[in-house]
Amino acid sequence: MPGVQDVLTLVVGSDHAAVALRGAVVAHLRSRGHTVNEEGPAVGESADYPDVARPIAERVARGELDRAVLICGTGQGMAMTANKVANVRAALVMETFSARMATQHNDARILCLGARVVGEGLALDCVDAWLDASFEGGRHARRVERIG
Ligand code: RB5
Repeated sequence: MPGVQDVLTLVVGSDHAAVALRGAVVAHLRSRGHTVNEEGPAVGESADYPDVARPIAERVARGELDRAVLICGTGQGMAMTANKVANVRAALVMETFSARMATQHNDARILCLGARVVGEGLALDCVDAWLDASFEGGRHARRVERIG
């Protein structure tokens, strides 16, 4: 369990392709002690991924959310949309090394997952690797600042 200073405010958003994995990620993050809201369609409803991803990414960019997890079928549409928002970085990952490095080197506050690509166990391991890492700063800070 995190200390009070480590309790993050997150949103987990998905389109219709990832409702089940969205629920699993929400439950996992809450079990870690974080404050988590869930956004996206209910089972049987449809949503276009840009409509879910853009407002969430804007809230991360404004600092209203510490982090977000965005999930669609492949994760591609969520990542493409979120990375159109200035001053926030979204990392699409399918294994834990990239998830960890997305925090350590890229300070990616948004993690994107593909529910049709990774199983639940690997997805939750990716979430943990992303959250448990720390941004290394230094030369990496210079580089991410240049992304804009
Ligand atoms: C929806 O069918 C699918 O296109 C979407 O979930 C995502 O994979 C797009 O990138």
